[in-house]
Amino acid sequence: MHNVHIDHSENIIKERMSKIKNKIVVISNKGGVGKSTISVLISLALSKKGYKVGILDSDIHGPSVAKMMGIEGIPLQVKDENNVEPILKEGIKIVSMGSIVPETDKALIWRGPIKMTVIKQFLSDFEWGDLDYLIIDLPPGTGDEPLSICQYIKEISGAVVVTTAQKISMLDVSKAIDFLNKLNIKIYSVIENMSEFVCPHCRKASKLFYSKEDVYQKLNGLKVIKIPFYSDVMEKLDEGKSFSAFENREELLNKILSIFD
Ligand SMILES: Nc1ncnc2c1ncn2[C@@H]1O[C@H](COP(=O)(O)OP(=O)(O)OP(=O)(O)O)[C@@H](O)[C@H]1O
Ligand SMILES: [Mg+2]
Repeated sequence: MHNVHIDHSENIIKERMSKIKNKIVVISNKGGVGKSTISVLISLALSKKGYKVGILDSDIHGPSVAKMMGIEGIPLQVKDENNVEPILKEGIKIVSMGSIVPETDKALIWRGPIKMTVIKQFLSDFEWGDLDYLIIDLPPGTGDEPLSICQYIKEISGAVVVTTAQKISMLDVSKAIDFLNKLNIKIYSVIENMSEFVCPHCRKASKLFYSKEDVYQKLNGLKVIKIPFYSDVMEKLDEGKSFSAFENREELLNKILSIFD
């Protein structure tokens, strides 16, 4: 008799996801606008508030979360091949390709089906356990990978859309919003990231990007939260010291928490 391979992962994902109260995707249609930064800050802010939080870096080509959270090179605890513990740091459960594949400057070349298998395993094989929030840092764009993740998870509580105040990024953001609307995913807020730069010397704020208010008209009344560029926060994330990102930055913590108001 032939061996019939049955893919049980969908049931396993359903079971695992049912223990997580809020599953939140962080999305943008353009790379480099700050998705990973915002995902990390959201996780830290909610954890500070006392919630049980997990963060999934589903960007397998540019996994920045492991770096920002300072967990690169920490080995995973594999109980058996279907039960792997996320890395636990200061109470936050973290799963990132950056902690699975050793750091390298070589690009990972993985074809579609393998990528999908890896993404599925992020959801099915890791013991997320009972969580209040799982924050999912999506790869840029609205292609196959973000779509598959949203479809695997099914009951997504909502999305945070990240953009910068450039016309080109704002046009792209409409695509991300359209993608979420098609999937019936609620949008908590749109983050206009790096909205301005406050000079650490003279404390004056300058605009970093060309911005015209008319770009917001397309957003149909969605809440827009402006987050300035903080060089101290960038340095901390670069050095994997994200856990001190809110030091002397109460206003940043409050802005991040206001995403869900
Ligand atoms: N508000 C901010 N203040 C300071 N630095 C920021 C801010 N937002 C993002 N950065 C910095 O900008 C860079 C890009 O951000 P990030 O990696 O979060 O973007 P991304 O959208 O996840 O990129 P990718 O599309 O490659 O995944 C990082 O070095 C990050 O530290
Ligand atoms: Mg990223």
